[in-house]
This record gives sequence, C-alpha cells and structure tokens, in this order.
Amino acid sequence: MPRRHKIALIGAGNIGGELAALAAREHLGDVVLYDIPDKEGLAKGKALDLEQNGSILGYDSSITGTSNWDDCAGADVVIVTAGVPRKPGMSRDDLLSINLKIIRNVAENVKAKCKDAFVIVISNPLDAMVYELKKVSGLAKNKVVGMAGVLDAARLQLFLARELGVSVKDVRAMVLGGHGDTMVPVTAYCTVNGVPIRQLISKEKLDAIVTRTAGGGGEIVKLMGTSAYYAPASAAISMAKAYLRDEKRLLPAAAYCEGEYGYKDLYIGVPVVIGAGGVEKIVQIELTAEEKANLDKSAAAVRELLEASRKL
Ligand code: APR
Repeated sequence: MPRRHKIALIGAGNIGGELAALAAREHLGDVVLYDIPDKEGLAKGKALDLEQNGSILGYDSSITGTSNWDDCAGADVVIVTAGVPRKPGMSRDDLLSINLKIIRNVAENVKAKCKDAFVIVISNPLDAMVYELKKVSGLAKNKVVGMAGVLDAARLQLFLARELGVSVKDVRAMVLGGHGDTMVPVTAYCTVNGVPIRQLISKEKLDAIVTRTAGGGGEIVKLMGTSAYYAPASAAISMAKAYLRDEKRLLPAAAYCEGEYGYKDLYIGVPVVIGAGGVEKIVQIELTAEEKANLDKSAAAVRELLEASRKL
C-alpha cells in the first residue's frame, strides 16, 4: 500500500492552523504542525483539536504538534508561514527585517531535514522570503515557490463576480508581479467563462476593482488588526494539491526567473504549471506594453527588497 503523504506546516498561527484543517479535510496526508518552543503548546493544542475534528468529519490523518524539526523530516510538502503578520498601517515590506531572520532559520532546517520537499512560502514580504528560502536551503528552483497570485486572483475574481452578479466559479483572473502594491492584474486574461471581462464592465469600474484588489490584504488588516488567513491557506493548499496529485494546474505563483519575462535571479509572480515536478514550467504570455511596464515596475520593487535583504 502506498504510504500517506506528509505535510509539514512551519508556523502554527492563524494561517498554519487553517492549513492543517484544510489539509486534513482534503485528505492530503498526515500533518505536522511546527512552531517555536514558546508556542509548542499552541501547536500541540491545535493538532489535538483537529484530530478530534476528524472523528466528526471522518478523516484519519494524523495531526501532530511539535517544536522539534526532527518531526518534520522527510516531508513531501512544506508550507511556511513562520513570521509575524502585518498590523494596521504596516506594508508587507515593513516585515522584512524580522521575517528574514526567521526564514533563514527555517531554510537551514528545510535543508537539513526536508531536502526532497516541495516548499510553498507564504510569509511576507513574499517575494523576498521565497528568494531567501531558496538561496539558503539550496533546493532546486522547481521545488520552491511562493503563494501570492492565487490569493490576489481570488480577490479580483470575487470583486468582479459581485459587481457582475455572477458566480465566482465562472470568473477567472490572472494577477502577476510582486505581492504588494505593485501587483499587476492582467485584465485581458480575465474572463467570465471565456467572455473577456472588458466586454462586461466599464473601464472605470474595472479600474476601481483592480485598485481594491491591490489593497485587498491591507483592507482586511485594517478591519481585524492582523492579516487574512482563510483565503491564503486555501490558495496554498490548492498549490500543494496540484503537486501531490500531479494536477498540472496553470496558476500564478512567485517562481524563480532565469530570463523569463526578461528577469534574472528573481522570484516574482508569473503563470506557472504545477505538477509532480513542482514548478514544471513558467508560461510566458503576451502582455500589453502597459502591463509589461507595470510588471517591470513591480520587478524593480522586488529587487529593492532583495537589495535591502542583502544588507540585513
Ligand atoms: N519557526 C517556526 N515558526 C515561527 C518561527 C520560526 N522560526 N518564528 C515565528 N514563528 C511562528 C510564530 O510563533 C507564529 O505562531 O509563526 C507563526 C505565525 O503565525 P501568526 O502570527 O498567526 O501569523 P499568520 O497570520 O499565520 O501569518 C504568517 O504569513 O501572510 C503571511 O504576512 C503574513 O508573514 C505573515 C505570515
């Protein structure tokens, strides 16, 4: 009988807990919820609560809370949320110096214990964190990816669906670039079941929705004093599932570019195919001159963050 997959979740906070709940409900495998020694009780408590949840919902996954990296050894998928989230008034970039130290520590442990895993990074500022994790862990570029585009696209899809009075199921969108104010929603590829969005909505309304999408994370931080966790967790789980089940999904994600879109040695949101090989390819799509200029601006903002990281 094939063994169950092992999913290691690094960070047992708001997103980590939701990731564990979804991984179990989706029968992805056994879950290890890791946090620092100070938060071991939180990790163990959430794990026990979620195992008990399984006897109501009917899943048999084992869910373990730990502060020992040995328990994460040999994971098939590692999802990283370690770090601090935003508080109202903070940008994702404001988190850089704190979260960089944390991600370096996580990367060393991934290198030592989980070298064969597919690693999905969620910690912010996303593009700098995923770059650092790959650099320090030394894992191959196809095995380290950042979750941002699926979440940003989900926000855009929701706002469009509500504006048009149609189901979210029929709205597809692509959001590229860095995970910050400079993100680039490519509205030419946005459709309602194949119907280009621009045929259905005025330019003014579309522009307003695009602006709301770029500030979509901040809108939630302002409301509840910390960052979102349900949709970020679902987005990462859809990527983990694409890998574990070899779904070959075409999704926007932060991937390591080596010449694609004219970018070198940079993680930035681009369309990728995720399957059993991890990030199996970066798909190059045509962009308008304006969209490419916006993507270049976003890449420049990510480079600035990387420069700042090098000094820390
Ligand atoms: N290793 C593992 N976990 C760590 C480490 C570390 N070195 N340092 C901190 N953590 C843990 C914290 O103890 C905390 O439990 O990471 C967890 C983060 O959880 P929350 O504070 O609830 O934050 P969350 O909302 O889950 O967001 C985590 O994802 O979207 C991003 O901006 C967000 O960077 C933030 C991250």
